[in-house]
Amino acid sequence: MSVLETQKLTKEFGDLRAVDEMDFEIGSGEIVGIIGPNGAGKTTFVNLLTGVLDPTAGDIVFNGRQLNGSPVHDRARAGLVRSFQIPRVCDDLTLVENVRSAILSREQRNNSLFTVLNWENDTRAEAIALLDEFGLADQQEAYAEAIPHGDKKILDVCMSVAMRPKLLILDEPTSGVATENKYAIMDRLQNYFETSDSAVLFIEHDMELIADYAERVVAMDQGRKIIDGSPEEVLEDETVKQRIRGEE
Ligand SMILES: Nc1ncnc2c1ncn2[C@@H]1O[C@H](COP(=O)(O)OP(=O)(O)OP(=O)(O)O)[C@@H](O)[C@H]1O
Ligand SMILES: [Mg+2]
Repeated sequence: MSVLETQKLTKEFGDLRAVDEMDFEIGSGEIVGIIGPNGAGKTTFVNLLTGVLDPTAGDIVFNGRQLNGSPVHDRARAGLVRSFQIPRVCDDLTLVENVRSAILSREQRNNSLFTVLNWENDTRAEAIALLDEFGLADQQEAYAEAIPHGDKKILDVCMSVAMRPKLLILDEPTSGVATENKYAIMDRLQNYFETSDSAVLFIEHDMELIADYAERVVAMDQGRKIIDGSPEEVLEDETVKQRIRGEE
């Protein structure tokens, strides 16, 4: 079943068509990678999906519902969550408190905050279980400012997951992370998402990570989708080789 679908989604900045008639679809449980050279329109596309930007033309259907002008927070509450955006890691809270704040915002959306009897204990237990799943349990009482950059990125993903997204969008989840730690982050993500029916859309410049973790790849160039297929198919495509993998 399709979680999200776009039809001829377009964004113009003046004379520039940053996103040009993108038709895209992602199904429940799918892990899809987006690749493309700098300026291809990847981030703009994602900003249209999350509601940060309004499209010039075209449609977005999420969970069978047309998203027209619906604000970022409403989309997040409906399960369209972008990491590094909502929720944000708060430096002067502990890891447990950070994850609990994400659970809190999820429960607020369900209006269940004041009806849950053991709210305090329940959310704490859930937060610790999630931190454990992402390998952060041993730092659960540390302040977020005190943990390494790579762990902070994992924490952010952990908080996004706490929102129980139907679609989680990650814009370069491993950027700024040392190569040896990139795989740790992606492994944690993959483990989690293999057992969840949430879909994941991630933008990535590292073609090895794309080959290893994406089930399907969409390549963009100059705002347009140039190919959509299996990682093998897309990474071996001649245009992709020239335009996107030119440095290799
Ligand atoms: N707010 C804006 N106003 C004007 N032009 C913009 C704006 N945001 C992006 N652009 C332009 O739109 C095009 C697409 O940019 P975008 O950031 O979506 O590319 P990208 O694929 O995410 O690139 P990168 O790989 O470098 O992150 C670029 O030419 C960029 O300069
Ligand atoms: Mg970008």
